[in-house]
Amino acid sequence: MWFVRFVSSSIGKKVTMALSGLMLLLFLCSHAAGNATIYMSRAVFQGYADELHSHPLIVIVFSTGLFLVFLAHISLGLLLFLQNRQAGASRYTVSTRVVTNSLASETMPYTGLCILLFVLIHVFGFAFGPTGEMISDTVKRLLGHFFYGLFYLVAFAALALHLSHGFWSMLQTFGVNHPRYNKMINKLTYIVPLFFLLLFGGIVLYFMTGRGASF
Ligand code: HEM
Repeated sequence: MWFVRFVSSSIGKKVTMALSGLMLLLFLCSHAAGNATIYMSRAVFQGYADELHSHPLIVIVFSTGLFLVFLAHISLGLLLFLQNRQAGASRYTVSTRVVTNSLASETMPYTGLCILLFVLIHVFGFAFGPTGEMISDTVKRLLGHFFYGLFYLVAFAALALHLSHGFWSMLQTFGVNHPRYNKMINKLTYIVPLFFLLLFGGIVLYFMTGRGASF
């Protein structure tokens, strides 16, 4: 089938990685927007979560789609990592040589695994809370634990590192590469991860430090 042939090809893998990465980034943007309501008030956040859950069909379709995109991104990423290791240096790794942030590019599989572990623990924590607990109370209960919060912060640091290279790599694959814009693109590879780190990290610190006790 043409699709299997495409995904198996070198360019097909890169395009699929970039497209699934873009979708995950869009999810992250919508998740960040939803969670940013925590900064406003408990009522606003609870209102947002209740509104979301009043459309179960949309939630199921969205969650299933997200799961499949995650699966494609992780399995292809793992495949590329193993192929690169076997080949010593493949075309995929060669393209990363011009990257300024080499720490981020070299640690992609490890930061990726760290994010996977985080997502599993995160989704498990929110899905299996005490029955009938309001989502605002779940957030407060979980993030109020010092070590749970600390784990979140470490995972967000890994996410920022992963995004920093992933964002750049995605733009290269889509051909967004022009001397006039490269300076701005390089800046964005720091600004985008930092934005998520501060937004998500701020929520955790709010509860970890006890300031969110009255949330
Ligand atoms: C402090 C930061 C975060 C908070 C407070 C938070 C909060 C939540 C909450 C409340 C839910 C459950 C939504 C519901 O069912 O009502 C959820 C689901 C989820 N979160 Fe987060 N989240 C945070 C950061 C992240 C990050 C950084 C990622 C990804 C790397 C992530 C990935 C997910 C995923 C994949 C789901 C399941 C979505 C679905 O079922 O469709 N979260 N999060």
